[in-house]
Amino acid sequence: MDCLEKFRIEDKVAIVTGGSKGLGRAMALGLAQAGAKVVVSSRTISLIEETADEIIKKGGKAIAVPVDVKNPQGIELMVATVMDHYGRVDILINNAGIAPMKKTIDINIEDWNDVMNTNLKSAFLISKIIAKGMIKQRKGKIINIGSVLGNMASNVAMPYCVSKAGIAHMTRVLALEWAPFGINVNCIAPGFFETEMTAEQREDESHMKFLKYKIPFKRLGKPDEIVGTALFLASRASDYMTGAVLYIDGGYSIW
Ligand SMILES: NC(=O)c1ccc[n+]([C@@H]2O[C@H](COP(=O)([O-])OP(=O)(O)OC[C@H]3O[C@@H](n4cnc5c(N)ncnc54)[C@H](OP(=O)(O)O)[C@@H]3O)[C@@H](O)[C@H]2O)c1
Repeated sequence: MDCLEKFRIEDKVAIVTGGSKGLGRAMALGLAQAGAKVVVSSRTISLIEETADEIIKKGGKAIAVPVDVKNPQGIELMVATVMDHYGRVDILINNAGIAPMKKTIDINIEDWNDVMNTNLKSAFLISKIIAKGMIKQRKGKIINIGSVLGNMASNVAMPYCVSKAGIAHMTRVLALEWAPFGINVNCIAPGFFETEMTAEQREDESHMKFLKYKIPFKRLGKPDEIVGTALFLASRASDYMTGAVLYIDGGYSIW
């Protein structure tokens, strides 16, 4: 088979959680450009509709399906809506996430639960329900969005770091469990990207100075710079890769 042929994902059904903005939006647009039918999902209906409309305007296929990933019943409803519409799911990107910045002594149980439920528990719940269909299909691609902070420490985001370490290890465990069914489970661990999530940090001059020193490429990532890796992991090009954590960070984590 032509090697470029392996990157084609025409008519594959892909769910992108957190598709309303930032990295999720970029991946939704990218997968649609590569031919996938994309389900754009998050809490903000106007923004997921905007992303889906942009895909359709560009000649792609997309629907917007709202979800609050903290709500297990909401997840079930979102997946049921997708199954009614497309009848299957080939690619799942667990991307929805939050990153509140607080010192650990100021973090209360609600803060902890909020981060864990959004960033970690949701990926378990959505993957579990989607994997049932993928197991029947004997094929599927699950891509979890982790972070360099799943492996490096931050002194203002303890639950976030823990949730992303959990995502990386959940990726390995699910990869092992679901390999017999032809399901690839991989993780993308971004460094620092220019999205709403990092807006506050980007206003902090001393932090920016530190990042430019620490990142060998001397700049933050742009959202569309995650798309190539997402497409690789969503396509047949990555069929022999599972349980991997790929760092897309301009070299931030190498020293
Ligand atoms: N930007 C970075 O530098 C960076 C670095 C490492 C890892 N990451 C990871 O990359 C992913 C995307 O981050 P981003 O930078 O694109 O952040 P962002 O611009 O803040 O977008 C976050 C997305 O998650 C969605 N979301 C948040 N809570 C949700 C909930 N309860 N239910 C459903 N959707 C929810 C948001 O949509 P709604 O508000 O509409 O629900 C939004 O689409 C996250 O997992 C993040 O941890 C980002």
